[in-house]
Amino acid sequence: MKGLILSGGTGSRLRPLTYTSAKQLIPIANKPILFYAIEAIRDAGIDDIGIIVGETRHEVKAAVGDGSRWGIKVTYIEQEAPLGLAHAVKIARPFLGNEPFIMFLGDNLVREGVTAFVERFKASKPEALILLSRVDEPQRFGVAELRDGRIVRLVEKPKVPPSDLALVGVYLFDQHIFEAVEAIRPSWRNELEITDAIQYLVEQGHTVEPHMVRGWWKDTGKPEDVLEANRLLLEAVEARIEGQVDGSSNLTGRVVVEKGARVMNSYIRGPAIIGEGSLVMNAYVGPFTSVGPNVTIANSEVEHSVILADSTISDVPERIDESLIGRNVTITRSQAKPRALKMVLGDNSRASVG
Ligand code: TTP
Repeated sequence: MKGLILSGGTGSRLRPLTYTSAKQLIPIANKPILFYAIEAIRDAGIDDIGIIVGETRHEVKAAVGDGSRWGIKVTYIEQEAPLGLAHAVKIARPFLGNEPFIMFLGDNLVREGVTAFVERFKASKPEALILLSRVDEPQRFGVAELRDGRIVRLVEKPKVPPSDLALVGVYLFDQHIFEAVEAIRPSWRNELEITDAIQYLVEQGHTVEPHMVRGWWKDTGKPEDVLEANRLLLEAVEARIEGQVDGSSNLTGRVVVEKGARVMNSYIRGPAIIGEGSLVMNAYVGPFTSVGPNVTIANSEVEHSVILADSTISDVPERIDESLIGRNVTITRSQAKPRALKMVLGDNSRASVG
């Protein structure tokens, strides 16, 4: 079997972060989302993986390389524009050949991994196997309608959802999917939809096996999803201190202090992670916070947030909560008069001032 990871797309819902970087490379618990997909596929015993790349190809290639770090072989497949998940399958055909494959959306996280689903697919040999999960807002997802445990219909982002069963961004296919992606036409949003391709398989009488995921699953399309995924992953983090923590600091719960990080006169309540080379001084870092590498947090309080590399938060009088802060961002208190909020925010930024 081969693997196919989709790491193109526009990432419009994660702007402004995605103006300057790929959404699949946003770190969750200080590891790029995309790496979790690579590791899940590798752990299922698949070592030949194609990665679909778009506008952010250079950054994705620089981060992943040739795959040797994971003991796998990576082949990059260029998509000229984000023309849909089924379009990605279509252009991956030369790489996939006639081998069955697992397709994984590069911005999705599946807690339990994919090993059991790969085993299941190999054992029962359906034409397709899809994963489903119950969700609160099915209208945001591809939704499946089941009758007697069989799939009768799939709809993409339905206004009136036929069920609360969302399609998880992991699919297993044999070569019949190529016939399907050739047969379908672009949707109203001008994308070749994978739901339409799977619906085609159902209509042609092929077996599409549904499986429920047991653990959590997260599609990290929006900022709040990134924070939630960060919370879920930090739930499972193990305490590890590789940097320096001085005697006047207090760490409770599961806290990771990575190499070269310094914690001085601060209180960190886990689960939390302080990235390599960062400095936390006279500060409070609360639960479910991931602090990236080379970040400074001084005389400030941060909780339930993700802070990317090279940013500085200093002397902020109010606690920063539920925030997603990009790279090289500075948030500081100015003593200048008149007292005012002064900001330089990129397009589509959001600042909520209490
Ligand atoms: P989406 O989240 O559906 O699309 P998007 O990345 O364009 O995001 P937004 O809606 O915020 O603009 O994509 C799911 C995954 O598949 C994501 O990792 C990007 C990837 N993808 C491709 O590689 N090629 C494509 O043509 C599309 C639509 C998505």
